[in-house]
Amino acid sequence: MYKPLLTFLAAASIAIAALTGCSKKAEIVPGAVWTDTEGQQINAHGGGVLYHDGLYYWYGENRPQKGFTSEAGVNVYSSPDLTTWTPLGLALTVSDEPGSDIESGCIIERPKVIYNPKTGKFVMWFHLELKGQGYGPARAAVAVADRPEGPFTFVKSGRVNPGIYPENMPEEVRNSGVTIENLEWWTPRWYEAVDSGAIALRDIEGGQMARDQTVFVDDDGKAYHIYSSEDNLTLNVAELNDEYTGHTGKYVRIFPAGHNEAPAIFKHNGKYWMIASGCTGWAPNEARLMTAENIYGPWEQLPNPCVGPDAELTFKGQSNYILPVEGQPGKFIAMFDRWNPENLFDSRYVWLPIDFKEDGTPYVEWRDSWILD
Ligand code: GAL
Repeated sequence: MYKPLLTFLAAASIAIAALTGCSKKAEIVPGAVWTDTEGQQINAHGGGVLYHDGLYYWYGENRPQKGFTSEAGVNVYSSPDLTTWTPLGLALTVSDEPGSDIESGCIIERPKVIYNPKTGKFVMWFHLELKGQGYGPARAAVAVADRPEGPFTFVKSGRVNPGIYPENMPEEVRNSGVTIENLEWWTPRWYEAVDSGAIALRDIEGGQMARDQTVFVDDDGKAYHIYSSEDNLTLNVAELNDEYTGHTGKYVRIFPAGHNEAPAIFKHNGKYWMIASGCTGWAPNEARLMTAENIYGPWEQLPNPCVGPDAELTFKGQSNYILPVEGQPGKFIAMFDRWNPENLFDSRYVWLPIDFKEDGTPYVEWRDSWILD
């Protein structure tokens, strides 16, 4: 169906429901322009959704129409039903102070918020690049708030776990002096070097690089930070401390040289599932599915979980977050970003339900529109 018509129909169904007081659920139309309760286009890219006390909070990158640096911060919207979104403004605001890690003009990407019941704090993790330094710094950053809508206070940023070796790096590799210097990318010798940990070793002193990222709270309340490390070649799974505001030093490397970005994770029937993308910048590529019985691995790689038109391009999107639907065990929504590098503000959202095959493997099938029961 013609997209503007779909958008109109989605808006009309919300309006009719509001006017008639009818509880008919609004449609989710992947890729359409999504507006908030004030009629403005939703600006929450690369984000995540947190359910807290009866409301969903959607956090995402505030992106400008031109350029790609962060001049505002992280937006937050709230919703009782995942379709009507009330804008709550900036959850995290960039700083005017020259030299601040989050100085206006930095790059803030993929913010995710988790709630810590022990401290009563909301903890936001995001990928941070310092102003004027391109994508070189590759830092993980954290901010905290007393309320879900913020304001979040910036705590710190940096590379991850400086001085600490990954748990799954054998002792003999730690002292092997393996290096990728002077090796040509994707040659067998280069692959072997990355695989055995040459880039992780290069970065031990200053800490591991952290770009595309997510955070995940397990059933036992332990939280993990999962991020693209080693020049985006290898994913790390790193344990967070009890406050969720720092790393404990325990981490593993997974899929070395797998070139995975945009990790999004969920747990179902005791298994961990992760959807990730390849590394082609803003351009879409084919999604990957991974699974493990233990979050630290071993992880197994499975085929693309997407089904339907443009499945080989992740429906022209990139994985971002997997949201467990509150009160409906086994129901998950896969959130993808359909980036528009010419106008990042106008990048669209592709949210689709996750289905499961008979053997329990998840898949994501394209739908022009759908209704959340
Ligand atoms: C993508 C990444 C995005 C953003 C972009 C910049 O690969 O997933 O979050 O960093 O590159 O080019």
